[in-house]
Amino acid sequence: MRTPFIAGNWKMNKTVSEAVALVDELKAALSGVSGVDIAVCPAYVALTSVKPGLAGSQIKLGAQNAYYEPKGAFTGEVAISMLTGIVDYIIIGHSERRQIFGETDALVNKKVLAVIAAGLQPIMCIGETLAENEAGQTEAVLERQTRDGLVNVSTADIAKVTVAYEPIWAIGTGRAATAEDAQNRCAFVRAQLRLKYGDLADQVRIQYGGSVTAANAQELLGKPDIDGALVGGASLKVGDFSAIVKAAAR
Ligand code: 13P
Repeated sequence: MRTPFIAGNWKMNKTVSEAVALVDELKAALSGVSGVDIAVCPAYVALTSVKPGLAGSQIKLGAQNAYYEPKGAFTGEVAISMLTGIVDYIIIGHSERRQIFGETDALVNKKVLAVIAAGLQPIMCIGETLAENEAGQTEAVLERQTRDGLVNVSTADIAKVTVAYEPIWAIGTGRAATAEDAQNRCAFVRAQLRLKYGDLADQVRIQYGGSVTAANAQELLGKPDIDGALVGGASLKVGDFSAIVKAAAR
């Protein structure tokens, strides 16, 4: 079955020295924890500084974004090849990338394919806005984002993909989806994957993200189609993130 997967998305937080300190504390707090995959995703500039401290730890590194072109005149972007050997995971299509920086499903798809081609694992984010939710469009949005984000992802590669369902109205608001609603949405996404990939859908990890805390993690992670969490604010606090990881461990 699927190993639970908890990833901390640090977003645009922590200087390099703060990131090194946080990783050291996390490593100590999580030593000996098993039965769960763990990743932290600091800013690009901190990745190589935190990397040595994670040697021998079960905590893996992820990046928060990357560009799909291998190199060239793309000022301000970071190529996936530059992240190879440093990270295992790359978050693709986070709602903040989509909403603030205009990323489309087509761009997300190019990035997902490039991450897989580089031998790394994408965490592809999907999720509806509050307006879409209130208009009853959630399933249509999830269906489109799942389909268009995974164009040309083969059956051989689909299990490398983690899908993170993050309803935008739940991100940073303190208002998480109910465990029941989150389960239903994640099950819906898995059903979409099953239409295209058959029983391989059972190998794809689907995370929930959006105001996951130490207090609500247990209930969310207890649901059958929620295979982990993509954690924002709570991933910056050692006690909270450790508690969430421990709640996921099977
Ligand atoms: P919060 O956990 O702060 O709501 O953020 C969720 C998120 O966007 C993770 O990618």
